[in-house]
Amino acid sequence: MANIRTENLVKRFGDFAAVDHVNVDIREGSFTAILGPSGCGKTTLLRCIAGLIEPDAGQILIGGKDVTRVPPFKRNLGFVFQRPAMFPHMTVYENVAWALELRKWPKPKVKDRVMEMLRLVRLDGLEHRAYRQLSGGQAQRVVIARALAPQPDVLFLDEPLSQLDAKLRDELKLEIAEIHRKTGCTTLMVTHDQAEALTIADNVLLMHQGKIVQEGSPVELYRYPNTLFSADFIGTNNFLQGTITGINRNTTVRLDGTATTLSAEQVLPGVPIGAPVWVCARADDIDIIDADQQAKSTNVVEATVEQALLTGGTVIVQARVGKTELRIHAGGSKRFQLLGQEGKSIFCSLGNISLIARGAGEGLHP
Ligand SMILES: Nc1ncnc2c1ncn2[C@@H]1O[C@H](COP(=O)(O)OP(=O)(O)OP(=O)(O)O)[C@@H](O)[C@H]1O
Ligand SMILES: [Mg+2]
Repeated sequence: MANIRTENLVKRFGDFAAVDHVNVDIREGSFTAILGPSGCGKTTLLRCIAGLIEPDAGQILIGGKDVTRVPPFKRNLGFVFQRPAMFPHMTVYENVAWALELRKWPKPKVKDRVMEMLRLVRLDGLEHRAYRQLSGGQAQRVVIARALAPQPDVLFLDEPLSQLDAKLRDELKLEIAEIHRKTGCTTLMVTHDQAEALTIADNVLLMHQGKIVQEGSPVELYRYPNTLFSADFIGTNNFLQGTITGINRNTTVRLDGTATTLSAEQVLPGVPIGAPVWVCARADDIDIIDADQQAKSTNVVEATVEQALLTGGTVIVQARVGKTELRIHAGGSKRFQLLGQEGKSIFCSLGNISLIARGAGEGLHP
């Protein structure tokens, strides 16, 4: 186990900075996800930290030691990549043992450790299976066992679930979280899937165009996105224009063009009364309420239904508040009443809203 720090890490391909002055400080024992859209530099950052790519500038410290120029095989790290990289000519047992034999572990210790790792990834009983006798998810678990067997300081996972089908992905996602809980090994995982990052990780680094644009716990990123990019990348968000009318422990906002006032459990540093803001309302957090529940509900707006579609357990509603579209993912018992309500007026409790300063410097657009 070890913590990881980078200082002004830069990696260029020609003139293009794939990793652009990245500073991270990753706690020992944490599970950190590097999250971001395709091409934002996640793999390049992971590979720099792991020593598989040499950075052009900056420093990498693992466990307090400067490893910027140390080759990867001398860094005591474990790797799991996108495609299951189990050695196909070896059995499950031999695959895991290989990592220990490489490091010259004594034979009796190898056997105990291999079996311990196979129990951890729930493959005990399958140790004599060959690669072709395993599912994709099982093969990926062999690779995780092999990576963890030598007790690495850090485990690196680059999109470990992306080659698996949806059901296996869901299962292995929870298993990876469980394995992390049991081993406590500092883990760094790359993913472009926000749901995956929020489910497994306790710390998320959100990346955009080579930079870390927000860092925090899954709840922090979900509740308090700091840019439109962040608000839009995580979950389904609505963006309404508002103006700040009051600041104390909360911030009150009037929706532009309406008399509706909303309250956010948040104060934007340096943003005064009268400033224009984006009001972000999560599609999943919006509740449809009866007209007589208005006084008891938080952040109520009146909206006009334009379309309501049943998709599985959720009714997806496209509605309108003034000039702004509002997307609602309605669960709960009232959702079916929304079907066939096109053109009707409904009351929505927006629940927890968050705010982002509008205008100069808002930067990244959804
Ligand atoms: N060896 C290379 N030579 C030139 N450009 C590269 C090289 N590797 C990556 N890039 C570019 O650097 C940028 C970041 O690539 P990277 O693979 O780190 O993205 P990513 O966030 O992992 O994307 P994905 O989610 O698609 O895997 C991309 O624009 C990519 O085209
Ligand atoms: Mg990648």
